[in-house]
Amino acid sequence: MAEHLDIISGTKEEKYAALYPQVEAVVKAESDLVANMANMASMIHETFGFWWTGFYRVIDEMLVLGPFQGPLACTRIRKGKGVCGTAWATEKTQVVPDVELFPGHIACSSASRSEIVVPIFKNNEVVAVLDIDSEHLETFDETDKIWLEKMVALLY
Ligand code: SME
Repeated sequence: MAEHLDIISGTKEEKYAALYPQVEAVVKAESDLVANMANMASMIHETFGFWWTGFYRVIDEMLVLGPFQGPLACTRIRKGKGVCGTAWATEKTQVVPDVELFPGHIACSSASRSEIVVPIFKNNEVVAVLDIDSEHLETFDETDKIWLEKMVALLY
């Protein structure tokens, strides 16, 4: 496995296109889910310089904090609560341009201004979510949604 992330630059699309095969190589070389979530969070976080990048896993009907990069975060989120709980309940990626306008947004950090949460499926059920927070407004769009959905599909 590569021991470092190749330097990635360019447009958002170019960055994802360069990042994806590197993440794929790392994940395909390891079978442990936590190890793969940890490296995937790191590689996304380093490439884009986001505020917070990490996973929550569904355990006993709650989202429980998993591997992440960034500041301390809430450990448990109920189904339907916040952006993460909404992605789980609706089984749809949530792109939130301004977290203050999202009803029920859970503010783990007041620095977070926009957010994307991508549900992760195993046997057609949501088993985890990928949550990314930005300290800028309107950071995430359809390009992030498409690439991140493709990336998390590598995990299970
Ligand atoms: N803001 C998220 C909670 C998780 S933290 O941002 C890491 C939410 O509303 O679900």
